[in-house]
Amino acid sequence: TTPALIDRFGRQINYLRLSVTDRCDFRCVYCMAEDMTFFPKAQILSLEELYQVSAAFVALGVSKIRLTGGEPLVRANLPALVERLAQLDGLTELTLTTNGARLQQFALPLKTAGLDRINISLDSLSPIRFHELTRTGHLHDVLDGIHAAQDAGFERIKLNSVILRGRNDDEILDLVHFARRKQLDLTFIEEMPLGIIDEHDRAHAHISSSEILSIIKQQFDLVPTQETTGGPARYHRMRDSDVRIGVISPHSHNFCGDCNRVRLTAEGRLLLCLGNEDAVDLRQVLRNHPHDPEFLQRAIRDAIPKKPESHYFNLDEPPQIVRFMNMTGG
Ligand code: GTP
Ligand code: 5AD
Ligand code: SF4
Repeated sequence: TTPALIDRFGRQINYLRLSVTDRCDFRCVYCMAEDMTFFPKAQILSLEELYQVSAAFVALGVSKIRLTGGEPLVRANLPALVERLAQLDGLTELTLTTNGARLQQFALPLKTAGLDRINISLDSLSPIRFHELTRTGHLHDVLDGIHAAQDAGFERIKLNSVILRGRNDDEILDLVHFARRKQLDLTFIEEMPLGIIDEHDRAHAHISSSEILSIIKQQFDLVPTQETTGGPARYHRMRDSDVRIGVISPHSHNFCGDCNRVRLTAEGRLLLCLGNEDAVDLRQVLRNHPHDPEFLQRAIRDAIPKKPESHYFNLDEPPQIVRFMNMTGG
């Protein structure tokens, strides 16, 4: 019998989000403060340690791993890790969430290494605004990256757009048109309050998924579908297109009841929920008991009862979570 990771609320954990670095070549306004400090290199897990933790999770019934960051493609030798992970028996889906800027270089090596699917962040189609939102990014790199991923043969590529009132809410329809033209799925995300970011008023920037959907419905016929990719997005289809338009609504439609995932930060802290601080230090276990999969598996099992029922995001108060989004890759 396969051992299963089941929490106190009966939720089975079969999805690991693995942050391979907290560093990023962008500084998106909703994700990071302008002057961020990052973990010293010695504190982050080696590729070998990342592999060992992943293997332990897969042995415990995890069937989906998503590599996140910061920006995962700034981590040296990522394709080598992908190649090893892709061979884990029991892993049915190996995916990546990226800002897209380095896909021109990495899309093909990642495909060859066995990566299954890619999600790419894209918040604006205007070069100037894209640069304002990412502080350091260039739109053309990401557009080239999207094409490189398509050319490499990736299917069902998904775009992620965090919509902020007054900054990019006037681009919702443009983004839908772009996704249809390029044959990409697209999810719109309500911003989550992680980390204190000066000069960014989250309550003011909030726009609900239902408002976003009503804007899209002005031009498109949207039909809700039960299809899921195992994440929190709720999808809609359009009658005359194969692409899916989704919404991720941590504020307006809490999805914690269906949660199937945990996260590992780049320094090896197992975070049981994105919106809480409950965590277990797996790096210590890895380093105190190297090459002892039994020990690691026991530490993971023992951590699962610590998973809280839900996040308690509240846009009307300062963020309760001081950790920034780049430490968990969302
Ligand atoms: P797939 O369903 O595999 O395509 O992935 P996904 O949409 O779940 O993952 P992606 O990395 O593209 O993340 C999209 C958004 O969903 C990000 O803003 C994440 O922070 C958010 N997200 C993913 N999982 C959770 C979760 O468990 N809780 C919360 N609050 N947000 C989540
Ligand atoms: N709230 C919601 N989504 C966020 N992301 C980064 N920071 C936040 C936030 N505070 C998104 C990125 C990326 C995904 C992994 O998470 O845009 O698409
Ligand atoms: Fe980097 Fe992603 Fe955070 Fe933007 S959202 S700063 S791309 S980690």
